[in-house]
Amino acid sequence: MATTDKLIIFDTTLRDGEQSPGVTLNTEEKIEIAKQLSRLGVDVIEAGFPIASIGDFEAVQRIATEVGSLMVGREKIGHPVTICGLARSTPNDIKRCAEAIAPAARKRIHVFLATSDLHLEHKLKIDREECIKRAVAAVTLARSFVDDVEFSPEDAGRSDPDFLCKVLGKVIEAGATTLNIPDTVGYNMPEEYGSLIAYLVKNTPGSEKAIFSTHCHNDLGLATANTLAGISNGARQVEVTINGIGERAGNTAMEEIVMAIHTHPNYFPVHHTVNTTLIYRTSQMVSTLSGMMVQPNKAIVGRNAFLHESGIHQDGILKNRQTYEIISAETVGVTDISLVLGKHSGRNAFRERCKELGFADVSDADFQTAFDGFKALCDKKKNVNDADILAILSNQISAHVGSAYYTLISTQVVAGADTTSMASVKLFDVKAEKEICDAAVGTNGPVDAIFEAIQRSVGRRFRLTKFDISAVGEGSDALGKAEIQVMVDPATTNTQDSRLTKAAFSSSIADIDIIAAAAKAYLGAINKQLVWENELAAGTARSLGEERQVDV
Ligand code: KIV
Ligand code: ZN
Repeated sequence: MATTDKLIIFDTTLRDGEQSPGVTLNTEEKIEIAKQLSRLGVDVIEAGFPIASIGDFEAVQRIATEVGSLMVGREKIGHPVTICGLARSTPNDIKRCAEAIAPAARKRIHVFLATSDLHLEHKLKIDREECIKRAVAAVTLARSFVDDVEFSPEDAGRSDPDFLCKVLGKVIEAGATTLNIPDTVGYNMPEEYGSLIAYLVKNTPGSEKAIFSTHCHNDLGLATANTLAGISNGARQVEVTINGIGERAGNTAMEEIVMAIHTHPNYFPVHHTVNTTLIYRTSQMVSTLSGMMVQPNKAIVGRNAFLHESGIHQDGILKNRQTYEIISAETVGVTDISLVLGKHSGRNAFRERCKELGFADVSDADFQTAFDGFKALCDKKKNVNDADILAILSNQISAHVGSAYYTLISTQVVAGADTTSMASVKLFDVKAEKEICDAAVGTNGPVDAIFEAIQRSVGRRFRLTKFDISAVGEGSDALGKAEIQVMVDPATTNTQDSRLTKAAFSSSIADIDIIAAAAKAYLGAINKQLVWENELAAGTARSLGEERQVDV
């Protein structure tokens, strides 16, 4: 029986995380991530900001419907994840939010209103009295829809603590059950933020009726330190994102908080119920779908996090891993077991490995495609390891969301040193139900030629804003992973809608053939762009990050 308090993990990857510059997740991607967060064992998923657009509303509603009742992998918690939606402190926002989260078994409305004098005076142009009035009205209305209401005084980190106590006391009276304290601009020092939490817990009237929560941004690289200081000083909920993605320098990274608590069970007065063995897999999924690469030296989930380079360290590790390792790689799901499955291996063994890697509920059709991909890889590669299988399964997700308009049938490339590269591509036009093909020369090598041939085939121009290639695992037979981001080429579009030229779309694909990986990822990103354009024309498009920064 745990003697510490349970720490509530509130994941905002799909809301604040999605506000990362250049990140636009579509609904299918959000649902995949939400399912994985539920399996991981987070307590609350902030699924989005429903008022932002019809697309955002629908994404929250679908998550509430499809994930808000799922129990897969939640044995430790014993109930489905709470689905939360964000709302400004206005009736329209709150009503829309309530409607979006309604299908979930457990639901929360999160209302926010700025409290710092800076925001009150310059942004909202209201005084403190009006601020309290609006906050109370918002919480009262939210409570008329749900029992679980969170209130955030935006820019709390730079607000007057005594005024905060006043606002928080009033919203508790109005029925707020969680009080979230955002360091919105990542300004606070750890001691300062910890003291603020302690002060609010001590001096807010009725504070014992609510749970205090941290919400830290990483502008000074202190988000994790500040969040931990908050826990030490009374916070029992943390707002976090996978890989720390989020506005500007990002939010507190979930994996860092969970593993800090895990590693120091006697230091922090809390415990968590996250399945840590799914952390790496979740990180990879979010990185793949968001197009935000994880830096190699990132704590817990970076490629180098469990590698030991120096001879002295390697020697120590061989003698006893604890000499230089405070967390075992297996604890967070990083395994280096080379799967001894080959061409002759059965489906059952492959399914078992998929389950162990976190893919417990893959549909039969997806499993078959992944199994075919695995078999094809076995023909080409001697040792198929977990990283390869994860890549195959991630390709599946990308294929779901990135093949609405065009799929790649084949490519042919002529390339070499001191020669002009040429490429031809054959695509399947899904809407027209026919094959299309074209060829092109590339002034900058074979990948340039392929991208040019694809643009000619689909009859559109795109701006390549990111192109990364990395190896999945080691050896010359390693899969190559291509990560691509495209935007519309403003020179070749005549639309007046500025949103068309501002959105960026990412896709990443791993393949044994790096040229094929680049072509498929490029096409995946183009497909996403086209889906979004279509939604834009129909008035159902999701909003972009900057549009969510509405300032009421
Ligand atoms: O950083 C912030 O203040 C927020 C609020 C909306 C909670 O994200
Ligand atoms: Zn935030």
